Amino acid sequence: MLYSTHRTMIWTIVLLFCGLLVLYLIASTRSRLKNEPPLDKGLIPWLGHALEFGKDAAKFLTRMKKKHGDIFTVRVAGFYVTVLMDPNSYDAVLQDTVSLDFSRYAQVLMQRIFSVRLPGYDPATQRTWMGKHFEREGLTHLNTMMYLNIYTLLSSPEILQNSQDWKKEGLFSFCYRLLFRAGYLTLFGKEHSNNSGEVTTVYREFRKFDNLLAKIARSTLKSGEKKTAGEVREQLWDLLSMQTAEESDSWQQSYRRFLQEEGADEETQRRAMLLQLWTTQCNAGPAAFWFLGFLLTNPDAMNAVMREITSFSLPAGTQQRLPLDKLQATPVFDSALSETLRLTAAATISREVLQDKTLYMADGREYRLRRGDRVCIFPFLSPQMDPEIHQDPEKFKYDRFLNADGTEKTDFYRRGRMLKYYTMPWGAGKNVCVGRHFAVSTIKQFVFMVLTCLDLELCDPNMPMPPVNASRYGFGMLQPDGDLDIRYRLKTQSPACWWSGASTESDYAL
Ligand code: HEM
Repeated sequence: MLYSTHRTMIWTIVLLFCGLLVLYLIASTRSRLKNEPPLDKGLIPWLGHALEFGKDAAKFLTRMKKKHGDIFTVRVAGFYVTVLMDPNSYDAVLQDTVSLDFSRYAQVLMQRIFSVRLPGYDPATQRTWMGKHFEREGLTHLNTMMYLNIYTLLSSPEILQNSQDWKKEGLFSFCYRLLFRAGYLTLFGKEHSNNSGEVTTVYREFRKFDNLLAKIARSTLKSGEKKTAGEVREQLWDLLSMQTAEESDSWQQSYRRFLQEEGADEETQRRAMLLQLWTTQCNAGPAAFWFLGFLLTNPDAMNAVMREITSFSLPAGTQQRLPLDKLQATPVFDSALSETLRLTAAATISREVLQDKTLYMADGREYRLRRGDRVCIFPFLSPQMDPEIHQDPEKFKYDRFLNADGTEKTDFYRRGRMLKYYTMPWGAGKNVCVGRHFAVSTIKQFVFMVLTCLDLELCDPNMPMPPVNASRYGFGMLQPDGDLDIRYRLKTQSPACWWSGASTESDYAL
């Protein structure tokens, strides 16, 4: 008797659950309405295309573009995301700050990745504060500090020990390690005298965190990884809060004061440091890796860049310093850098739709966007890898952004229309990367110094570039899956040791 009552109860619960599930699926089923972009929900209820998206966003979105054209809506883990792939129509998203919002989703990610919620978070106030440091005089000061730190690192015994012997290392590890160190010392203060391994420890923990970042952002960590992520985060919060009075003028301390003024408590300030460490350090090292890697695997490009650098050498006997105007006029170098970023900068630009909106495309089409959905631009696929814009888009052509007369090429077309956005490594519009000038200057200083100071070679001259780690699409600069083995030693005769005489701030401003 008791047994049959028990069975009835279990069946009632199962039926109730199934009923609720069916009701939920019916309620959450969405169909395409008139004037809405093509809708692709995927086969899996709720999850939709989340798995394919997370595995390789570039491959998935290329498939969707082939199927639906340059605008479509996909379901990803319960959200509906409209993806726009026509660069001529990007301003309809980038310039709309009334119906489309940047900050809400940014806050969700901040909370999820860095466990931090900034009180009264206002991206505009933060941007204005950042601008003070990363533009004009603030930028010149940071460039000087960065220059000195890169120079000190490259001339340290760690690099130049027995300077005539070749040292072997992976290029990615070489670039990321050194630029992280230089960037950390520039923005987060000096290494403490009683703890000289501090930056090395911060870097080691940072790399562990960075390796898990995509999974943290997508909430797909396995249980062991979840534990590691939590521990590493704690460890980095602790390491970043070890400050001394002598560092009161550092960028980090200034950021702390900014947070205090914004009403952030001690714990929030402590946690926000990791957010800033990642924002400021995660892109330059990988960018320098791709740049040097493309040069090493493309001898034509390396020769052209070296010709430009050596043309700066001053006659023997004069001080070997590169004049400021020459530092700025490096068209070959700049084109090769733009080409590198075209191939490897892969951030997604996401906005939340705050109210129903009509999106007007450049070719006259109009689409309705629903409140609560997201709009997403993925510049890596278009314009950067779009074969309608760039011929052989997968190839590295160092002179793609050069005119025949050596000036910068800026005219690119899609379907007969000249493009405003033909490459977008820094995003665009109101939220364009505020650190872009600092990043370019850092990469330029580092690559110039490496190429003029060191003999740098591939261990195997036929080694191709490693493939990209496909799980990182959407998170800024791509990273390789594997590394490129290099060997280096101090040049016996440095042809253009232009930095040796620089001494004032303006000498270093790239
Ligand atoms: C190769 C290097 C870099 C690349 C490719 C890059 C790329 C980007 C992109 C695409 C965005 C826009 C995201 C969006 O619209 O949603 C962005 C924003 C931002 N970047 Fe960078 N970045 C780089 C280096 C840096 C550096 C070195 C710093 C600081 C030192 C920095 C600080 C920022 C900040 C603070 C924002 C947010 C801007 C805002 O909220 O309005 N970036 N970056």
